[in-house]
Formats: sequence, C-alpha cells, structure tokens
Amino acid sequence: MDRHILAGLDAEVSALGFGAASLGSRVGARAGQRLVAQALAQGITWFDLAPAYGAGQAEEIFAAAIRGQRDRVQICTKVGLAPPPQPLWKRAVLPVARQVVRNIAPLRGRIRKSGITSNRPLPLTPEVLRDSLERSLRRLGTDHVDLYALHNATPEALADEALLRTLEDLRTSGKVRAIAVASDGTAAEAALAQARCVDVVQCALQVATPALVSRAAQAGMGVITHSVFGLNTSPEDITQRIAASSDLQALHAAAGAPSPAALRLMAARLRNPGGVTLCSMMSSAHLAANAAVFAAPLSSETTALAQALFPQ
Ligand SMILES: NC(=O)c1ccc[n+]([C@@H]2O[C@H](COP(=O)([O-])OP(=O)(O)OC[C@H]3O[C@@H](n4cnc5c(N)ncnc54)[C@H](OP(=O)(O)O)[C@@H]3O)[C@@H](O)[C@H]2O)c1
Repeated sequence: MDRHILAGLDAEVSALGFGAASLGSRVGARAGQRLVAQALAQGITWFDLAPAYGAGQAEEIFAAAIRGQRDRVQICTKVGLAPPPQPLWKRAVLPVARQVVRNIAPLRGRIRKSGITSNRPLPLTPEVLRDSLERSLRRLGTDHVDLYALHNATPEALADEALLRTLEDLRTSGKVRAIAVASDGTAAEAALAQARCVDVVQCALQVATPALVSRAAQAGMGVITHSVFGLNTSPEDITQRIAASSDLQALHAAAGAPSPAALRLMAARLRNPGGVTLCSMMSSAHLAANAAVFAAPLSSETTALAQALFPQ
C-alpha cells in the first residue's frame, strides 16, 4: 500500500482511505466488521467516518472491528450532520428491510425520496462541536481522533471567530490531532484561506483541481478526495476511447490492461499524490481491487494512460 506523510496532519497515512458512509446502512454490522478487517489486512489504515454515516451506526461498527488495534489506524470523524432518528424498532427491522430493499430498485428510489433516510444538518456552534466530538469519541471507544472535519461548513462558518477558537482549543486538548473542512468547492476555497485553524481539505475529486492541490501544498495543508467513481466518464466511455485509438491501445496493453475503475483510481492518485483518496468499498471484491491499485507503483505507461484519459 502506498503510504506517505499527509500535510497538515504530519503523520504517515495510507494513500487509499476506507469511506464508511454505508457502514451500517447498505451493509450490516457483521459484514461491515469483516470489510474493516479486510481493509486493515490490505494495508488501509485511514478510515473516514461521521456520526451520520451508516444511519448513525458506522462509528460503533468500526469501533468493534478495530477493538485493541487503535494504534494501527487513523480516524477522521465529522460534525455537522446528524442521522435520522433511529428508534429501537427501526434498528430491529433494519437488517430484514435492507435485504428486501436491496433487491427491489423502485423501492430504493421511493425510500430515498420519502426522506426517512435523510441526515439532518446541525448548526456549527462551539457547543455542537464539543458535544458531537465527545459522543463520537464514546462511540469510537477512543480518546482522540486524527482528523475532525466540519461537514458542509460554509465560508461564513469559517469566518466565525468563536468557532475558530473552539477548533484551536480542541486541537490543543489532544482530542483532535488536526482539523478539516469536508465540503463543496466554495468552502474548500474558504478553507484554504484559513490555514490558522484548518489543516486538511476534504472534497470531491472534481473540486480538487491541480490548482487547489498545489495551493494546499503551498499552505502546508493536506487534501483528501472522494467521489472518484463520479469522475466524468462512464466505464463504457473509457473502454470505447481506448478501443478507438491505437496509441491508447498500446499504452493500455503496456500498462497491464487496467480496468476502467482502476484507471479512475490511478487518475485520482496522480491528481492528489500526497493525500488520501477515499472510496466506498462495501464489497470485498471492490476493496481488493482498489487496494491492489494503490499497492503497485505507478509505471510511466500507467501514468501516461491515466493522464491521456483524464486530462488535468
Ligand atoms: N465529506 C463529504 O461530504 C463526503 C461526501 C461523499 C463521500 N464522502 C466519503 O467518501 C467515501 C466514498 O464515497 P463516494 O461517494 O466517493 O463513493 P465512491 O468511492 O465514488 O463509490 C461509488 C460507487 O463505486 C463503487 N466502487 C468502488 N470501487 C469500485 C470498483 N473497483 N469497481 C467498480 N465500482 C466500484 C462503490 O461500490 P461498493 O461501495 O458497493 O463497493 C460505490 O457504489 C464515503 O464513504 C465517505 O466516507 C464524504
């Protein structure tokens, strides 16, 4: 697994991170714990969590999976979104309901539209920041997180002096090693200007332009990206583009014929070489395939192919 120092945190991290948004919702507790164990076995040590993830269950499922191994992993958790209310009856029927819903696509759409699975935004106040952190630490069974991220922070929140002082206090307390903003492009830009309190920017790969990644590096800040598989071309497009060009075909063969998904990951790795790329890997096969991409060094042919398919 590619490992390097993440700027802003100044600690060694795995270049591929395990995104836990569906841990406890799309996959249940037992399958989720197996996936976390597999991730660790494949060299992934960066885990991206939030109180809202997995319908509010991701942090506890993760904690059970890494019990006794806290020093082997790095944890990012967030503040700013709360899960929908989970009464006991809902928790009890969830595993059965999940099985039914997985197999009926129209039902999935209706449930999403109904809003019963929607997270609720929380105001980013000093009280919410402190309270949410204490709750996350309890659920995670740890005394600190490596990164504490403001979920969907606005540029206005990042200019709020009381909020910034709270972030500094939390960092000084040792309960939080570094602070991140996990948001859209506007907030990512505002975060870059707030190097006093923000150490790391988390955003979609499309937002992490080469200019943003280079400005973050100049400011001594790290970058974490997600939404790799939303990268503007479908697997079919990638296959067709390779098939339509003899140069690309030759590069593709020389690079060992990587799949469209592997090519997207390679492009993400090249875009943010000193950071972390987060992926959803709720299947063992995706986890193994993605870890393999980050385990191999990037050859010159692979680099040329990824750059030709996903120009910067
Ligand atoms: N801070 C934020 O606002 C924010 C927003 C979005 C995401 N995130 C973080 O980023 C993580 C990743 O989420 P994302 O939205 O960026 O999802 P993603 O990694 O782009 O994944 C999207 C889909 O691609 C699939 N996939 C993964 N590996 C694949 C492969 N090798 N071949 C084919 N398909 C593959 C996944 O399947 P399976 O999962 O079924 O394996 C998933 O269904 C989240 O879990 C969360 O931790 C943060």
